[in-house]
Amino acid sequence: MVHNFTVRRAGVADLELVLRFAAIASDLATRRPLGRPSGQPLPAHRSRYEALLCDPRRHVVIVEDDHGDAAGMGVLAEVRTGPLMDLPAARLSHVVVERHRRGQGAGRSLIGAAAAFAEQIGAEHVVAGVVPASREGNKFFARLGFVPLAVQRVASVQLLRRNLAVPDIAIDFGHGHTEPSAGVA
Ligand SMILES: CC(C)(COP(=O)(O)OP(=O)(O)OC[C@H]1O[C@@H](n2cnc3c(N)ncnc32)[C@H](O)[C@@H]1OP(=O)(O)O)[C@@H](O)C(=O)NCCC(=O)NCCS
Repeated sequence: MVHNFTVRRAGVADLELVLRFAAIASDLATRRPLGRPSGQPLPAHRSRYEALLCDPRRHVVIVEDDHGDAAGMGVLAEVRTGPLMDLPAARLSHVVVERHRRGQGAGRSLIGAAAAFAEQIGAEHVVAGVVPASREGNKFFARLGFVPLAVQRVASVQLLRRNLAVPDIAIDFGHGHTEPSAGVA
């Protein structure tokens, strides 16, 4: 069945909808590396997404079918590709399509929205965040021509302390000693 999807910017009125999609996306992103049990909301999820929906620099986008039923979401922002390669890029993150709506073109419509956003901000590239655990996500982006840019790994400090066979590194970053804003009127 062929569906016509449209993509619109979300507003604060979409908070509940966005939280529903965010729960699917964050579950996929954090369950394994952070040892969080499936289905548990992250602390302060609601307030973080409320702030996100009010942030003029970031755009939550909703993909919906021709009946106005929402199928998924993504988050767009302008970023620089890196400190040494200072080019503007459109960053697409938190991409998720509801399970029963996958394979109908909703995901591609979200990428289309990212391409439109990139053109509007004068960026030549779209950078997408994809968690390694999502096989279908990685396949989906690769099929559209996305290549790996950088892989971020995460480990708890406790685990690092156990695994590092080096003496403690003594370095003072100034935290806890001075107020960052001290002396500033
Ligand atoms: C990755 C994800 C966003 C893709 O969304 P989607 O809506 O299924 O994507 P599309 O339907 O546009 O495309 C998926 C496939 O369906 C095909 N397709 C697109 N429109 C179609 C249609 N009308 N009928 C049948 N197939 C169609 C596409 O060709 C594509 O095939 P390919 O991946 O082999 O190239 C979705 O699978 C998802 O939410 N996964 C879990 C979260 C995730 O991994 N997010 C990624 C970042 S972490």
